[in-house]
Formats: sequence, structure tokens, C-alpha cells
Amino acid sequence: GPQDIPRDPRLDASMALMSEGYRFVSNLCDRMDSDVVTTRLRLREVICLRGGAAARLLYGAEGLTRVGAMPSTVLHLLQDKGSVQQLEGPAHRHRKALFLSICMDPARVEALVAEVRRAWRERLPAWEAEGQIVLQQEVARLLTRAACRWAGVAHQPETQLAREIFDMIDKAGSIGPRNWLAQMRRAGTEKRLRNLVEQVRAGEVVPEAATALHAIAFHREEDGALLDPSVAAVELLNLLRPIVAVGRYITFAALALHRETTWRELFRSGNLELAGDFAEEVRRASPFFPFTAAVTTRPVTWEGHEFPEGQWLLLDLYGTTHDPRHFPEPTRFRAERMLSWTGQDDAFIPQGAGDVARTHRCPGEMITVELMKEAIRLLCCEMEYEVPAQDLGVRLNRMPAQPRSGMILSAIRRRS
Ligand code: HEM
Repeated sequence: GPQDIPRDPRLDASMALMSEGYRFVSNLCDRMDSDVVTTRLRLREVICLRGGAAARLLYGAEGLTRVGAMPSTVLHLLQDKGSVQQLEGPAHRHRKALFLSICMDPARVEALVAEVRRAWRERLPAWEAEGQIVLQQEVARLLTRAACRWAGVAHQPETQLAREIFDMIDKAGSIGPRNWLAQMRRAGTEKRLRNLVEQVRAGEVVPEAATALHAIAFHREEDGALLDPSVAAVELLNLLRPIVAVGRYITFAALALHRETTWRELFRSGNLELAGDFAEEVRRASPFFPFTAAVTTRPVTWEGHEFPEGQWLLLDLYGTTHDPRHFPEPTRFRAERMLSWTGQDDAFIPQGAGDVARTHRCPGEMITVELMKEAIRLLCCEMEYEVPAQDLGVRLNRMPAQPRSGMILSAIRRRS
């Protein structure tokens, strides 16, 4: 690596990554007094970066690839091989346009919000009867259901496909992505989706025109060819899985509502004007996607540093959204910060940075924030509940992180 970048004196920092989790890069940068530090993970040299300028490098520079870059922790939670995330240049922009047409079309997003509202209301009577629920699990289930219906894949044996997708996400954190992928292949989820795409093309299954299944099945590559059915299946999963993962932010939103009584009372009074600001502060403050990574495909110059070809780069998303230089008192929850994914703030990057059409920035921010707002409304205006004593601590060395109890709610009643 470049000689002008401070170097971690340890031979290897893998153990520190395991024990420090989300705080790993920040701790390293603080200790070395630099926002750019060279270290080694599993003996592979890596340059760790944080801050807005680094975000512009990982989301905007030419000469980078995501292939082979993600450390094998939770990062496959959201994306997978053969997906848009593995493409670059014109091929990436073309495939990305497909995702933008699905994820950033307000009418489609509204339709998804409506499916989630419906699935949530369907579960409420059972919650009332059960006495207490683990919100994180329940929300993952209902989001899976809603996402499958919305995407047009629910006429498959609904419960089976939905259960598989739920399992995939549920287990990713505990057993690791390798096992999890193997499990998915064994379970045949990908194969079932592949068959479904082929049935749609053959006219044997007719999804509604506005569904993701329809859009992906008939999407044309730049050369006019249809997507390979297995790639189409992977891209469908790359929509379904992260929608379910929004449940993690919804759980963190419920935790924030529990603690921020003034905000809770405001929302309960029916004034939801600022629910978006609240949701955005939850996205900033909550540990979810710890970092993104890339590898240079040729020498790249950035801020006066020369990175050789094949250089591994790790951008600290969590550390950047917790940097006091950008977000004063970063550990305090303050919805008054008025953050928004619609602005182009290179430090507010829970789901990446830059131009969403041209970089690997997440296309799902509109969906994420709209689903969080709806969940805040459902929690505050459509139900009453108590939060019994439980361990709500969030361990920052477990990725992805969550309140330890999963957020237990009790005495649930519909609000009239
Ligand atoms: C990419 C986080 C929700 C679809 C990304 C990236 C991050 C991220 C950090 C950039 C990865 C990189 O730089 O290589 C999240 C988080 C979410 C979320 C924390 C909250 C649950 C969603 C949703 C969707 C989605 C709801 C779609 C329905 C995607 C896709 C990409 C992506 C397709 C790849 C984009 C590309 O490579 O051009 N996400 N995401 N995500 N996300 Fe999300």
C-alpha cells in the first residue's frame, strides 16, 4: 500500500474486527489520528477509510469493483453473486435503471406500503390474543408476506417461499453467509424463482404489469437479450431480501419511540408530519450496514494518494454517520437534525452515497424510509402496547446488530 498512509502496527486486525464490530474502523482511525489507515484483515492488506471524501471515492470513482471485495461477514445479507452490485460501467447503469424503475417509482412504493399496512393489520388480532410478541420477528414475517405479494411471487406456494426467504434473513447473522447460501440452494428457493420467471415468459403465469416479477422477467439487457433466468431469480431475491431487512430499522424505530416519549406522544396525537425526520435519524443512529468495500481494477489517485491496482478498500459507513465532526453528539438521538436521503450529504450514508443511477448507492432508500414512516404510524396510531422489562442493549460487535431481546411488546390492543 501507499507509504504516505499511516499503518496499523498490528500484524493482523481480524480479531479486533470481531471484538469491536461496528466501531472497528473508527477506533483504528482515532488511534492513528487519520481518516485513512492501512491494516490487514485475514492477512490481506486493506485501506480503511471514513468521511465524505472517502464516500465520494467508493461511490463515484472509476476503476473500482465490488467483486471479491466484501468481507465474508454479513454483507451478503442484502446482495448476492450475479447481481447488479457486481457490475460496473454501462452494464451497471443499464441494470441499475431496472432497479430504479421498480424502487423509486412513487406509485410502486405506495403499493408496497399498502401491502405492508394490510399484512400488519392481518397480524394484529393474533398479537392481541398472544399477550406478547417479539417485534423484530413479527415484522420480518409480515414484511416477507407483503414483499412477496407486492413483487408478484406470492401465487407460488405462498407460505413456503415466504418462509424460506424469512429463514434466509433470520439465519444470515448467526450461521454466516456461506452456509446460508448453501442452504438456500438446497432449499431450492432460487430454482423456484427461476422456474417462475420461465413460466412468466412462456405465458403460463401472468403477473400484473406493475410487479417486480413482470419487470424483471421481461427486462432486456443492453444487447436486447432477456436476463438469464438464474440472474433474474437472483435480482428478485435482491429486492425481496432487503425489503424484509427493513424490519431491523423498524425495530430500531420502535426502540427509539419507546425512549423518545415526546416524539411518541406527538405521533400518537396524529401529527405525523415529522415522522420522516424521525425515521432518518433512526437510519443514521442505528447500526446496520457497517461498511462497504471495493477493489481497484487499475491504479487510482485520490486526495493525493496513489492506490495500486488490486488495492482493497473498506469504507466505514457506521463511523461516518457517527462522526462528531459531521453529526455533533453523534450518540444522541436527535430527530431535529432534519436529515434526508433526498439530499446529497456525503456524510449521511447509511445506505451509501453519490448518484444512485451511476454508483452502487442503494436504490431502496425511498422504500426504506416510507416503510419506516408507515410502521411508526401503525405503532403509534393503530395500536396500544406496553414495553415490559427486557434487555434492550445493542451489542456493537454482532453484525447485523439488534436490541438483544428483539423488542418485546405486550398488552397489545387495537387503538380505536
Ligand atoms: C445497495 C444498504 C434496503 C436494494 C446497498 C448498499 C448499501 C445498502 C450500503 C451499497 C452497497 C455497495 O456500496 O456496494 C441497505 C440498507 C437497507 C437497504 C441498510 C435497509 C434495510 C434496500 C431495499 C432495497 C435495496 C429496501 C430494494 C428493495 C439494493 C440494491 C443494491 C443495494 C439492488 C445494489 C445497488 C448497486 O450495486 O448499484 N444497500 N439497503 N436495499 N441495495 Fe440496499
